[in-house]
Amino acid sequence: MDYQELLHDAMDAARATKGRGRVADYIPALAGVDPGGFGMALATVDGEVHGVGDWEKPFSVQSVSKLFSLALVLAHGGDGIWHRVGREPSGNPFNSLVQLESERGIPRNPFINAGALVVTDRLLTLTGDAAESVREFLRAESGNPDLGTDPVVAASEAEHGHRNAALAHFIASHGNLDNDVDTVLEHYYGHCAIAASCRDLALAGGFLARHGTRADGIRLLSRSEAKRINAVLLTCGSYDAAGEFAFRVGLPGKSGVGGGVLAVLPGRASLCAWGPELDAAGNSVAAVAALDAFTTATGLSVF
Ligand code: DON
Repeated sequence: MDYQELLHDAMDAARATKGRGRVADYIPALAGVDPGGFGMALATVDGEVHGVGDWEKPFSVQSVSKLFSLALVLAHGGDGIWHRVGREPSGNPFNSLVQLESERGIPRNPFINAGALVVTDRLLTLTGDAAESVREFLRAESGNPDLGTDPVVAASEAEHGHRNAALAHFIASHGNLDNDVDTVLEHYYGHCAIAASCRDLALAGGFLARHGTRADGIRLLSRSEAKRINAVLLTCGSYDAAGEFAFRVGLPGKSGVGGGVLAVLPGRASLCAWGPELDAAGNSVAAVAALDAFTTATGLSVF
């Protein structure tokens, strides 16, 4: 299969969506990004890497980081996390507060903000530094030693973080945080504000394509745990648009409001597409169009 040519075709499909979404503007640091940017990378399980467009340009990974924090919690702490967070789609926006009240502070899944705060809390307990453990993992898997948190984005998230602070306090009021709220929020913003490229993220997602094995061949997760993360990515990775994403793309995937989407073809490859214009659910219009074009042209999906 000529992946390079397929990525070019996917980029053409993505570029045709220009103007159909809106760049995230909830923090000034993200609003300044070029709306027309686009990149896409594919990393195969046997080490080939392909890319098109701005595939080596760093962007704010935002919620894409939530898949790595979950993987590290499962790797270091096992499946006890599932007593503190569910694994059902929420059907609500990623930053919604409504379900927490009737569901006793147990977030629906690890990828909505509420769930990711619980996962970050657990990672903090397990490693002593949740944000750094995500950065370290991304550096190791991507081979990019310069990968780090953008301090301006992190500070801006904290400054405008009333909703996340409300979620964290509410969860804490139900006894579902072990660390203090401000520290959990600091580490949550620390991993959301990591800047990484499509190339970095496609490589870092490789452990899910390799059924749990890291780039160096060492096992991070059991095959079954990797399957479970992929399953939760499919059902919850793009929030209240997870059904539409599965329908169009047919792959487990995680989106972020920075415009990135990381998708997994188990046994074969991991892909990351980026374009900053978002749809109403907070998913990149161009990245979803590119992944849709790729899986439609190749027939490569989990279905
Ligand atoms: O906490 C937030 O709202 C952001 N740091 C991350 C949200 C996000 O990326 C949702 N993804 N589509």
